[in-house]
Amino acid sequence: MPEFTPVIKKNDIQRQTVRIAKIISDDYQGRELVLVGVLKGAFIFLADLVRQLTLEKVKIDFLQASSYGADTISSGNIVLKKDIDVDIRGKDVLVVEDIVDTGLTLAYLIRHLKRMSPGSIKVCAMIDKRERRKAAVTVDYACSTVPEGFLVGYGLDYAEYYRNLPEIYHMKL
Ligand code: IMP
Repeated sequence: MPEFTPVIKKNDIQRQTVRIAKIISDDYQGRELVLVGVLKGAFIFLADLVRQLTLEKVKIDFLQASSYGADTISSGNIVLKKDIDVDIRGKDVLVVEDIVDTGLTLAYLIRHLKRMSPGSIKVCAMIDKRERRKAAVTVDYACSTVPEGFLVGYGLDYAEYYRNLPEIYHMKL
């Protein structure tokens, strides 16, 4: 049985989401914003974030990438499993990620989205995990920063389990 240690409590997740949503709302006031959630992990965070945005015109779409290799670290061999449908040409795009670790997935997704000629593209992540960063990606809006460790809950999985946990835990196998 894995060992779970709480890392980010429900109240803190909520507080941080409200804080970041205010900043995003200020930054994009009067503009139309397309949120692009990265499946599957970002689905809960995006759902909570979007309801805190005070913008009139928001569109939501999702894409999904997967990387093959060792279980708990991105291999860098990334494959796009699902693309967006919304036309982002000339639009302000905000990529919503659950967690940025090596940054390889995000770098790939940004390269992919840039080919569609958006007006601007920024990144919001629930968790910025910086220690294993390999790609030079900028996380413009981060709710929490953690140095290391494998986290589950609030959308984050291990082998597809534990996404439903209401808080974020460090998992030790
Ligand atoms: P990266 O390409 O190394 O930045 O990894 C990004 C993806 O790996 C995230 O979108 C997650 O799906 C997954 N991932 C990275 N770290 C964790 C973690 O601690 N728990 C669960 N999934 C993670």
